[in-house]
Amino acid sequence: MLENVERVPGDAILGLIQTFKADDNPNKVDLGVGVYRDENGQTPILESVREAEKTRLAKETTKAYIGSHGDPDFGEAVLKLVFGHNSPILAANRASATQAPGGTGALRLAGDFCRAQFPNASIWLPEPTWPNHIGVFNASGLPIKRYTYVDDDNHLDFAGMLADLKTAPAGDIVLLHASCHNPTGFDLNRDQWQQILDVVRERDVLPMIDFAYQGFGDGLEDDAYGLRLITESCGEALVTQSCSKNFGIYRERTGCLIAVAKNESAMQDVRSQLATVARGNYSNPPAHGAAIVSTILGSHDLRALWQDEVSAMRERIKKLRAAMVDALQPYGLDERFEYIANQRGMFSYTGLSSHQVERLKNDYSIYMVSSGRANIAGLQQDNLDYVASAISDVVEEE
Ligand SMILES: Cc1ncc(COP(=O)(O)O)c(C=O)c1O
Repeated sequence: MLENVERVPGDAILGLIQTFKADDNPNKVDLGVGVYRDENGQTPILESVREAEKTRLAKETTKAYIGSHGDPDFGEAVLKLVFGHNSPILAANRASATQAPGGTGALRLAGDFCRAQFPNASIWLPEPTWPNHIGVFNASGLPIKRYTYVDDDNHLDFAGMLADLKTAPAGDIVLLHASCHNPTGFDLNRDQWQQILDVVRERDVLPMIDFAYQGFGDGLEDDAYGLRLITESCGEALVTQSCSKNFGIYRERTGCLIAVAKNESAMQDVRSQLATVARGNYSNPPAHGAAIVSTILGSHDLRALWQDEVSAMRERIKKLRAAMVDALQPYGLDERFEYIANQRGMFSYTGLSSHQVERLKNDYSIYMVSSGRANIAGLQQDNLDYVASAISDVVEEE
């Protein structure tokens, strides 16, 4: 039987990692992979995480299962981080956290849950979106529809987004990126969030909010603005949360699916179903990452240290964004690429074509995803001029 299995191409980003590793150009630059990098090009273990691990190691008494909903301390801490300490949703006990293997695991739980409970529903994804949204929801068997997000000039197309969402039938699900939209870096402002809220209510659709980058845009609280507006005003929502980026614990697979229901009883009904979905997938989530997060968030000192570390990552990315546009100025390209400075989070939709991306790789060993998405955190102060000059070269050819 196995001899008849067809080979499929591997993940494009994983292929890019292999080619980058094999490239012996000393000037090579990796703007492809979606992990944070510091000024030395490393993806460091945060100091707060190291400290939390020491504490956990000393205190851990068992490796027994943690249950399908995961670590209750983790769930409680993340709910407060996401909704805020004074949240009316938490006061009314309307939200439930089910720990999952990363944000991806949370998305899969959400997809399987929606497919089972709402057999006629489709999920609306932005065009473009994080490519694995498509893989995950396809795997859940959830039909996918798309709404516009970017126009032909590589700017946020908010009018197009609204127009598309206004055609969504009642009972469909709409996925929104809470902040630091991947892959574009274009986020909604407060007025735009209000307009999205109006459409979500008018169309009677279920919002599913993907929150993978809390703290990477404008701050831990600011990045939650749209999510809090929608969840507090709509009564019902799903939130897929990830601790991979803001705690730098990518490989510990830590996140959760949060369900917000109209009342506590409805929340408990949904929660019971989510445990069944988790059980059929992987039974119990991994414990270590959640223990790190609950230790940090439960300690005054570690939390303060972590908040400083998140701020440092965010500020580095913001500075690099501005510095990249400055570096393009001598080539007369600063106005054209001004949006790089205004986008948020690690990623930037540069507007470069797949042909230009290919030339950057072949001629300059600068690696980014073929869609033109660049991981800004992959830049260094001392390679900005090299990257700017290479971009000017490939753009000149147009
Ligand atoms: C938009 C978005 N959602 C979810 C995830 C999933 O993150 P993880 O499964 O690593 O926690 C990512 C990771 O890149 C992402 O960019």
